[in-house]
Order: sequence, then C-alpha cells, then structure tokens
Amino acid sequence: MSKILVTGASGNLGQAIIRHLLETYHAPASDIVAASRDASKLSALGAKGVELRNADFDDAASLDAVFAGIDTALIISTDALAVPGQRLTQHKSAVAAAAKAGVKHLAYTSMPNPDKSLVTFAPDHLGTEQAIKASGLPYTIIRNAWYNENYLHGMSHNLKAGQWFTAMADGKVSNISRDDCARAAAAVLAKGKAENKTYTLTGPQSLNADEIAALVSAVAGKPLRVVKVSPADLQKGIEGAGLPGFVAEMLASADANIAAGNFDIVTSDYETLTGEKPQTSEAFFTTHKAALLSA
Ligand SMILES: NC(=O)c1ccc[n+]([C@@H]2O[C@H](COP(=O)([O-])OP(=O)(O)OC[C@H]3O[C@@H](n4cnc5c(N)ncnc54)[C@H](OP(=O)(O)O)[C@@H]3O)[C@@H](O)[C@H]2O)c1
Repeated sequence: MSKILVTGASGNLGQAIIRHLLETYHAPASDIVAASRDASKLSALGAKGVELRNADFDDAASLDAVFAGIDTALIISTDALAVPGQRLTQHKSAVAAAAKAGVKHLAYTSMPNPDKSLVTFAPDHLGTEQAIKASGLPYTIIRNAWYNENYLHGMSHNLKAGQWFTAMADGKVSNISRDDCARAAAAVLAKGKAENKTYTLTGPQSLNADEIAALVSAVAGKPLRVVKVSPADLQKGIEGAGLPGFVAEMLASADANIAAGNFDIVTSDYETLTGEKPQTSEAFFTTHKAALLSA
C-alpha cells in the first residue's frame, strides 16, 4: 500500500485528479488522502473510502499531520494571489512539511517557463520549484499551460458584445483543458515513481487570438471581432468592468506574456504521461457551447 496525498482536493483540479486516480487509474480509495482547507466539503470522497485531512498552507504548524505517512504527495498551487508573497510562503510551508515527513515523491502544479515569464504570479511558481529542488526530495514538476476553461469566464460577454479585447497581439498560446491536466497529474501520482522530471502540459496546437476567436465564433454561431489593445489599456478596461486590480494586472500580464511568445510552446508531455492525445480547443468549445452562449 502506497499513500497518495492530494492537497487542494476540493478545487476544480483537485476533484478531477482524484476522480482520475479512482476511475482512470483504478487506485484503491484507501490509498488516497484528500486534503482541503475544509475537509467536510469532501464527504462524498470519504464515503468512497478516501481518507480526508484538513490542510491550510497558511497554518504551517498544522502541516506535519497532513503529510505524515504519505509516500507520494501532490501540492496543488493555491489561488492566493491578492496578497503579494502569500502564495509562495504557503507553498514553501507545504514543501517544508513534505520534506520533514520524508515523502518519497513530491509533485507540484506549476506553469510553463516560470523563469521566463511576464505573468505577475510567475515568481511564486519559480520559487516553489526552487524550494522543491532544494528540499532534496524526489520530485515531478507538472507545468500546466493556460486552461481552455479560462475563456469561459468572459467569452459569453464578448460574444454578446461581438468583440473581444485582448493584449495578445499576434502571439500564440497552447491552451489545454483542465481535465487533461488532471488526468496527466493522476498518471504521475499513480505511477508513483519520481524521476526528478519537469513536464509541460500543453494542448495540441498553439493558436493566436484570431484563430481562437474563429473557433469560438463558429461554435457559438455568432460573430466575434478581435480588438487588439495594449496590456495597460486591457488592465484599465478590466478594472473599469469592476474586477479587482490584482486580477486585472494578472490577466493583462498573461496576455503580454502571450504577445512576447512565452506561451507559444507545444509539447508531447501529455501523451507521454497518459498515452492519449490532449483535447483540442475546438472540441473543448464545442462541449461548452452552452457556457459560450450563457450571457
Ligand atoms: N493553468 C491555468 O490556466 C490556471 C487557471 C486557474 C488556476 N490555476 C492554478 O491551478 C490551481 C488549481 O486550479 P483550479 O482550477 O482547481 O482552481 P480552484 O478551483 O480555484 O482551486 C483553488 C485551489 O487553491 C487551494 N487553496 C487555496 N487556499 C489554500 C490554502 N490556504 N491552503 C491550501 N490550499 C489552498 C484550494 O484548495 P481547497 O479549497 O481544497 O482548500 C484549491 O485547490 C489554482 O489554485 C491556481 O494556482 C491555473
């Protein structure tokens, strides 16, 4: 028996990873430990025989108990972006606890090329990767490209208005579906073996804004004009629409990173890990047509 811990288990990615562990890779429920800030949210997993633990990376002292007896651990990066520095501190606390517990394999969900990125939160990922490597623990870094799901937040409003403001310029991005990231992470955990490797999970194609807009427009059956603006103007526009400043800055920085070509990466790492091809953005948008038309 080998115990697999997944932190952040009530998040979208965490839930999908545990589903893939159970259903795709047939891991015994009794081998899985699901941890969340509020483990009571995981009662459905508990009913299946998954062990539940409370884990809040802001409470460093409590984390020894979270990693105790664990062979393979996945630290899912948190969404604590509002306070600069908080997320890296959280992740470092989790890495320290994993090292203290002597886990045999530590995996982490990162982002593509955090060492060469304009995205505001890239230093969190780079710092966590460095902390993992410095811990001396056997590791797997799983760098997830931009989710296709990210477009579902705004595209229905863009379609309603008939225009999409973007600061991607002519840059390309290789979006991947979150469920594919989850399946690949589950494959890493199910295999158990740490090879001190970094995988970059991307979709099958890199697309520019006009190509993404054409796919969305074709699926939705509505026109969508791409309006190319500067990152500074995009940030102002997003803030003007009422989103918090740090979100506006993060989204504008992500577009700037695409414009700079830093997200224009297509790898075969998803296929290496799962033996499958990743979902195309076209297939993703087709599956989520109702969400595109929801505004
Ligand atoms: N590649 C992309 O395009 C992309 C897009 C969005 C997010 N992300 C990153 O990928 C992660 C997972 O994505 P998702 O879609 O599952 O996001 P999500 O549903 O928003 O989940 C947020 C995650 O953060 C965890 N978390 C927050 N505060 C925490 C704390 N103090 N201690 C421990 N865990 C904490 C949550 O765990 P519990 O609620 O279970 O405690 C949950 O797993 C995100 O957290 C973010 O870092 C990547």
